[in-house]
Amino acid sequence: MQIDGDMMENKWNQFYKKSYSDRLRLIAQSAGLSEDQLKLIKQNADDKSGELIENSLTDYRLPEGIVTGLVVNGHQHLVPMVTEEPSVIAAASNGAKLLSAGTGITSVVSQKLISGQVIIKNAKFEVVSDFVSSNRHKILELADHSHPTILKYGGGAKKVLVRKLSAQFTSVDLFVDTGEAMGANIINTMLEAIANWISEQLAVETTMAILSNFADEAVVQVSGKVPVDKLASKSVAGSVAAQRIADASEVAQLDIKRAATHNKGIMNGVDAAVMAFGNDWRAVESAVHSYAAQTGTYKGVSTWHVHGNQLEGKMILPLPIGFVGGASKVLDMVAVNKQIAQIHNVKEEMQVIGAVGLAQNLAALKALVTDGIQKGHMNLQLKSLALSNGATTQELPTVVDQLRKSSNPDSTAVKDILKTIRR
Ligand code: HMG
Repeated sequence: MQIDGDMMENKWNQFYKKSYSDRLRLIAQSAGLSEDQLKLIKQNADDKSGELIENSLTDYRLPEGIVTGLVVNGHQHLVPMVTEEPSVIAAASNGAKLLSAGTGITSVVSQKLISGQVIIKNAKFEVVSDFVSSNRHKILELADHSHPTILKYGGGAKKVLVRKLSAQFTSVDLFVDTGEAMGANIINTMLEAIANWISEQLAVETTMAILSNFADEAVVQVSGKVPVDKLASKSVAGSVAAQRIADASEVAQLDIKRAATHNKGIMNGVDAAVMAFGNDWRAVESAVHSYAAQTGTYKGVSTWHVHGNQLEGKMILPLPIGFVGGASKVLDMVAVNKQIAQIHNVKEEMQVIGAVGLAQNLAALKALVTDGIQKGHMNLQLKSLALSNGATTQELPTVVDQLRKSSNPDSTAVKDILKTIRR
């Protein structure tokens, strides 16, 4: 095996200790970056972001847009969404408009408990279970004392349960009201404190203590109705479209292949809003997909049914997010986005994000069962197709116009159009 020159020199060791300009020089040398590429990196670099992560290079920018017409619990919200995908924001606005033709979306959060686990190895389940039962109060108290500020905000450790995972492993599950924060650090501190204590008291080995992203006690329940006549397209009557949407949601309960795509459509909106509010979208992705698979079969997280002349959608979505803490204070746009969305606390944040998910799902399903996804999606995708094949923003209107008329709007078509107009 030939050893790469970089590896022999070990020039990447302690890379994180180098100054920004030294890091940049090394990367530029190694990758052969041009002056223009270096300029782009420097232009987008922000000192503050450099403090958020390690080995920072620059800020990677993503587009942000606004969903209009979302009515949640009787209030109109504009929702900022961060996404690179064409048609997502148009679709969410479309779904929001359809759902606001009824009574709007009802979105309820009754509690937000984040859980975590202490995994214990080679202890008798009954011994751990009895110990936790008789020391429940002490364990909750220990957890609270390890992170006392949470009590000031009205939160704290609320319950502790024990589950047998196998003959070898037992899980002690702690549930914490983390208040306005997502609470990853709070709960991990608490878990490490109780893990040490349990391990000392029972003389057992703890394998780890860590929060769980399975967030079935931090859910938002969303529902909304659309009069079926609002679902009509040029070729399909509203009542037919409504029944087909209900059928589509049933298929997502039956088939993992469809369920994965159904949920991806929902996450188009959820992730984009979660990012705009500065939250950890990987935690939300993990929570939603594990929730979708909690029965052992992966299913769509929303369902649609026709009742008389109304199509009704329902969804339960776990959203382990926070209104304060994490990157939310560091990323300047987060405060602006919260103000645009008119959300004031974590419950409202969860309610609005859940509502976006339902609206996103409705628009995608309506497109799928009426005109097909390509018509609306491709129409908006043409700009991205043109840009990714070298069109400038000045050339964009002409290229998109000609692509619309083309029977085969693909990258070759863009290149041919560009050749003609540049001549
Ligand atoms: P349309 O029927 O041509 O729209 O839909 P319209 O002209 O009747 O407008 C209706 C509303 O949509 C508008 O109301 C806007 O709110 C919004 P208005 O403001 O006019 O009173 N709207 C727009 N908003 C911003 N920019 C625009 C725009 N156009 C309409 N340009 C539309 C066109 C694309 C909205 C529709 O075809 C649609 O909703 N399609 C779904 C697209 C979609 O889901 N895209 C996501 C990518 S595909 C995917 O990843 C998920 C999927 O696989 C999930 C699944 O399988 O379940 C599909």
